[in-house]
Amino acid sequence: MIPAAPEDLTPARVAQFLNTRALGKSIRCLDETTSTSDEVHRDALNGAPHGHVVTAESQTAGRGRKGRRWLAPRGVNLSFSILLRPNLAAEQVPSLTLCAAVGCREALLELGADSCALRIKWPNDLNHQGRKLAGILSEMTLGKGRSVNHAVIGIGMNVNLDTALLPPPLNEEAVSLRNILGHEVDRALLLARLLFHLENAFEAGFPRVEKKYREGSSTLGQRVRAMMENETIEGLAEDLTPRGALLIRRDDGGLTEVQAGDVVHLR
Ligand code: BTN
Repeated sequence: MIPAAPEDLTPARVAQFLNTRALGKSIRCLDETTSTSDEVHRDALNGAPHGHVVTAESQTAGRGRKGRRWLAPRGVNLSFSILLRPNLAAEQVPSLTLCAAVGCREALLELGADSCALRIKWPNDLNHQGRKLAGILSEMTLGKGRSVNHAVIGIGMNVNLDTALLPPPLNEEAVSLRNILGHEVDRALLLARLLFHLENAFEAGFPRVEKKYREGSSTLGQRVRAMMENETIEGLAEDLTPRGALLIRRDDGGLTEVQAGDVVHLR
């Protein structure tokens, strides 16, 4: 058997670094798939346990929020999805995404990222000096009533990618951990530390990680434009609700609660 290269992402190498109760204890590391989130939804239907993870070196139909494509070059980044079997109502799922952003930020700070530069753009983009480092996509299937049968949290992170090689405008808009830290990162170690901090954040729940979310937020206190399904508004991103929705003080003085949408930071 050919031994795995040190930087390979394999279940055995992730297990070497893993220090979690459930996240990543069951894991499949694939070479190629449509989307790791598709794999996890399928595994969930076949009885995979809470915390099950699927990673892929390449996704042929990786998806981002709002139906956008998620593209990543083979082998240098992290693309993975986590199965959660939470006891939650559907309305609480968006707050899982905010917990995920906090968990990712904590792991990256531990690995040496600068806390002033590494910020969370509401709801859950991780940006470094305004450039995108990672994105998070949460999906769920409903059971009886409005309860959540399972949730799948998909995370894509630029790790050892040299963003200078990306075509414009991506070379200006994206950043990788290698760009930030100045050296390559072992993706198995990184994944294990991400899973550790994600597990803590999910178990704590949004009310208990809210302070960390606020500390890491680049959106609160900013003038923003929010694009929702039926309308676009501008105003000051004033506060968060207990479930993590964004409260925007419009220019006419009224307050709009944005549950889901995209925001652009305005100068
Ligand atoms: C976003 O910023 O819009 C979210 C991007 C989420 C991408 C990840 S990569 C792993 C998982 N599989 C997918 O198809 N999407 C998520």
